[in-house]
Order: sequence, then C-alpha cells, then structure tokens
Amino acid sequence: MSEANRIRVPDLESKKRRGERIAMLTAYDYTMARLLDRAGIDVMLVGDSLGMVVLGYETTLPVTLDAMVHHTRAVSRGTNRALVVADMPFLTFQVGVSEAVRNAGRLIQEGGAAAIKLEGGGAVVEAAARLVEVGIPVMGHLGLMPQSVHQLGGFRRQATLEEDAEQLLADAHALEGVGAFAVVLESIPAEVARNVTKELRIPTIGIGAGPYCDGQVLVSYDMLGLSQDGVPAFVKRYGELGEQTVAAVRAYADDVRTGRFPSAPRQRAPKAALALAEAEAE
Ligand code: KIV
Repeated sequence: MSEANRIRVPDLESKKRRGERIAMLTAYDYTMARLLDRAGIDVMLVGDSLGMVVLGYETTLPVTLDAMVHHTRAVSRGTNRALVVADMPFLTFQVGVSEAVRNAGRLIQEGGAAAIKLEGGGAVVEAAARLVEVGIPVMGHLGLMPQSVHQLGGFRRQATLEEDAEQLLADAHALEGVGAFAVVLESIPAEVARNVTKELRIPTIGIGAGPYCDGQVLVSYDMLGLSQDGVPAFVKRYGELGEQTVAAVRAYADDVRTGRFPSAPRQRAPKAALALAEAEAE
C-alpha cells in the first residue's frame, strides 16, 4: 500500500466533519498490527494496557517508556495504513514539561509513532500544549484514567456526578484549546460523552462511553476473545481466539504425542540421501 493511503492526524477531524465514525483498536506487536491494518482499522493504539494484557501486571503503572518504545516499534513495522498512536506511560509526562517532550520524542523518533496519547486534564494540559508546539500530535484521555487507579479507588465509572461531568467537559475543551487532535473518553455515561462530542470540534473516541462518540476503541485482546479475565462488561466479543488457540494447541500436542505429526510424507528426504538411494537402486 502506498503512503498516499496512510491515515494522518488531520484526517480524523475531517472524518468527524463528514460524520464518518473512527475505528480504533490496541495493538502491541508486529503480527497483530499487520492483521488489524489489513482489516482496515483507522487508528492503532499502542496502549499502556500492554502492562495488563501482554505483561500480566494488575495495573498499567509498571509499564516503562522503554517497553512502550520497544512495542511501538514492532507495531509501526507492521502498519502501512493506520495512524499509530503510542501511550505515554505513568510518570513520563507528569514530572515536567521538558521531560514530557523528551519522552514523547522517543515514541515518535525511536518507536515510529505518529502521535502520542496522555491521560488527564488540568495539570497535564501544559505538557500537551508544549508537545503540540514542538510538532508532536497529542490525543487526550479523560474519564476513567487507569494510571490514576489508586486515587480513583479502582477501575470505576467516572463523571457520574454533575460537577464531575462539568469538569470533564472543561478538561476536554482545554485539551482541544491547546491543539489536541482527539480525545479518548473512557467509562463515562453515554449522555456525558454525547455532550462532550457535540461541544468539541475534534473527535471523541469512546470506550465504555456509549454510542454517541465520533469513534470507538477497544482492547484488541478483549474483543477477539484472547483475554482470559478482567474483560469489562461493555466489550463486545467479535471472536473466540482464546478458545480456538487452546483447541489448536491441544490438537497439536496430541498429534505429537501419538506420532500423527509430522506424518511421513511431510518429511523431505535430504538430496544426498535421495541420490544415494537412487544409486543403490541402479
Ligand atoms: O491503554 C489502553 O489500551 C487505552 C485504551 C483502553 C483507550 O488507553
């Protein structure tokens, strides 16, 4: 596929203007990225959900910038069309603006991402502004922010009170105001998401935020049925690849143990052995 077909940052706002919904999924490795890209996903998010989904941690907090760079590089190599967005992990953008720029720069320069995503409004808006100023596209993330799991008291629905919904709208406006190109809205009431979507010029991408956002994102392992547990109730499963994997691996192990694999005709005789057999036959 030529670079002309590549989805670029400004395309997302154009899609919103045209009323076209945006399809986004997470990816963490080359093979999955190739598959999602072939299927025509618009935005590939190298989420810090990596920590829970791929690395087996209980939260996203242990994910390091080095891990994100490593996985972003793999996803970028497997992607021809989708816009690759990399998450900035915990403590890589909260400490200071210049540190945020340096860290985001690594995801772009070494990881090959076209944009970064960061969680939060208020305190992180300054960092978002500076990133945009230096040419690094920023996707915001509001509502349930997994990096604040301890402060939130768990992975809970957010913005259920009116004042919290107002604060969320103010944060979304602030992110748009400093040049963010989109904002993820996670685990908030559908009506709150609808209002934010109506108010913003930039697209909203929902996850557990109802049907009114400009796009949707899911953790690919959840929607493909690969995740074993901890899958949120709002996830629609479009496949049962976990069960298919277990069945395939059982069949393979059984074949190996009973001698059905490899079967004799599958084994190629080495050329030398063939020549010897022919010579002996003459
Ligand atoms: O890390 C992630 O996968 C995310 C999505 C859930 C939006 O931030």
